[in-house]
Amino acid sequence: MSDIVILSGSPSEASRSEVVLKHLGELLKERGFSVSHLSVRDVPQEDLFLGRYNSDAIAEISTLIHGAKGVIVGSPVYKAAYSGVLKALIDLLPQDVLQDTPVLPLMTGGSSAHLLALEYTLKPLLATLKGQNLKGVYLVDSQIDKLNAAEPIIDKEVEQRIQKQLEYFAEIIDRRAANLVVKQEI
Ligand SMILES: Cc1cc2nc3c(=O)[nH]c(=O)nc-3n(C[C@H](O)[C@H](O)[C@H](O)COP(=O)(O)O)c2cc1C
Repeated sequence: MSDIVILSGSPSEASRSEVVLKHLGELLKERGFSVSHLSVRDVPQEDLFLGRYNSDAIAEISTLIHGAKGVIVGSPVYKAAYSGVLKALIDLLPQDVLQDTPVLPLMTGGSSAHLLALEYTLKPLLATLKGQNLKGVYLVDSQIDKLNAAEPIIDKEVEQRIQKQLEYFAEIIDRRAANLVVKQEI
């Protein structure tokens, strides 16, 4: 079981959002967290298309997400919302799979015109799984160099914003873990 699960909702082979998610994973590893990456591309297409909510792959993903201390969910903007394939996967997960879990939502889009897709589509979707949404991150394509996996964020200001969000995310997770220890000791 990993501390953090990062779920990529892009169906693209060379995905900008996934490069950014991998970068976030590396930054969290530097902070001492164990990290697992999941992608919609790894889920059997038949499970998604035929709605096989009781398949082995879906059970495995549910267990991984359920056991995580924090989850990051990323998606490209497709027609002003999250990708359809991310929704197809989320539809198959248990309703409370993110219960009490801090969730950092992330979206990448071709332009800033759909910045609010984060607020009006991805966050409400994650809230239906009872996730506790953090502010989240929205990046436009021009801010990402998908060929530079080590440093994919071109814009320094955006990189700083991401670092700040990760700091907050890590703090919440650490604080929750500390609370749990105190409660167990009482
Ligand atoms: C089918 C499709 C629909 C898209 N719709 C939008 C959109 O409505 N708004 C937008 O800003 N970008 C849109 N884009 C651009 C992508 O959101 C953007 O390039 C994103 O970074 C792609 O992420 P990915 O490489 O991880 O798949 C669309 C791209 C595709 C392929």
